[in-house]
Amino acid sequence: MSYPLALPSWDGEELAALQSVIDSGRFTMGERVRELEQRFATVVGSRFAVMVNSGSSANLLMAAALRYRTVGPAQPGDEIIVPAVGWATTYYPFAQLGFRLVLVDVDPATYNLDPAALAAAIGPRTRAVCVVHALGNPCAIDEIETVIERANGAGGRIDLLEDTCEALGASFAGKQCGSHGVMGTYSFFFSHHISTMEGGMVVTDDADLAETLTCLRAHGWTRDLPPGSMLARGLSDDPFERQFRFLLPGYNVRPLELAAAVGLVQVEKLPRFIEQRRENAATARRLLAPLAGTFDLQRETAESSWFGFGITITGVDRRVVTRALLARGIEHRPIITGNFARQPVLRHLDHRISGPLTGADHVDRCGLFVGNREHDLSAELSLLAATLERLTEERLAA
Ligand SMILES: Cc1ncc(COP(=O)(O)O)c(C=O)c1O
Repeated sequence: MSYPLALPSWDGEELAALQSVIDSGRFTMGERVRELEQRFATVVGSRFAVMVNSGSSANLLMAAALRYRTVGPAQPGDEIIVPAVGWATTYYPFAQLGFRLVLVDVDPATYNLDPAALAAAIGPRTRAVCVVHALGNPCAIDEIETVIERANGAGGRIDLLEDTCEALGASFAGKQCGSHGVMGTYSFFFSHHISTMEGGMVVTDDADLAETLTCLRAHGWTRDLPPGSMLARGLSDDPFERQFRFLLPGYNVRPLELAAAVGLVQVEKLPRFIEQRRENAATARRLLAPLAGTFDLQRETAESSWFGFGITITGVDRRVVTRALLARGIEHRPIITGNFARQPVLRHLDHRISGPLTGADHVDRCGLFVGNREHDLSAELSLLAATLERLTEERLAA
């Protein structure tokens, strides 16, 4: 493969970090997880961070925390507005916790939730809006917040949630994506901005939610809750009794020390990683500019961390494009799940669709993306541009 979607971002430092965990003999969640949580909270500018074993688990805890928070929990049947282009596990947890999904269109240029479509989707049961910063591109947070504030001013109680699993390092108005909403989630899977093998994080500024997330992460029990915890209020202080008190219907989605040890190394490299990804984006923008109208690069809103390079195609059959990319060893894939309303699994999820999903359909039918990473991709992007340019010429000649 001459232009793979992703390659490992580790070097000897990550391997040494793994070895230090092996030498310690302590593999399950401990000091390194706590240290990474503190470091990560500082990096993204949130008060609290709770580490888990994947981005999907982070989304699961975010949805469950909405349901089981001490103050103002959401109720089964409440509606959660989501963009029609997202990842599968953006959607599942909400439905599994008894909420109703409301699928709303995206802007076909940015792939992100369309604020006007959001405004039209809000109803009396709307309890949260969960945005997805698609392929690292920040949503129009200011417009989305205005829509939410207007609805809340008229008696609503809507929280902003952020699935930031593709957008660590992106920022809007100088503030990190994931830290704008009531909770934000991240993924540290292979090919993401930092990689800990599997791993994820939920951040929040709300102490009640942080406790709820902590409790839900491990069996719904009392351990790891801070002194004076609201959740554990009124329980006996006797350690024998207290350690095996179960408060919430939780999970076991704890991360390993191994993942946290790698995360501690990777998070220090994050600024450099993001800088290189942005330099690659500048190269992609320059090389693809002459092909605009046929091959359009995802339009950036604020400061994207460029998970990959999304391209929508006009006037050339996508199958012709994918064949040409394959022939030159350029790995590519659909833009996230495409229009999720077209995925068969949706029949298992309680939902309604608000308005037409024409933007999501465009992304679904005409989109694809190629990889970005923390190395200079000038050669790979030149190959991509030359491949697409030849297709444009062939089209003009036909
Ligand atoms: C938007 C989004 N949400 C959630 C996830 C799930 O993350 P993980 O693969 O770590 O479970 C992903 C995975 O890539 C994603 O792209």
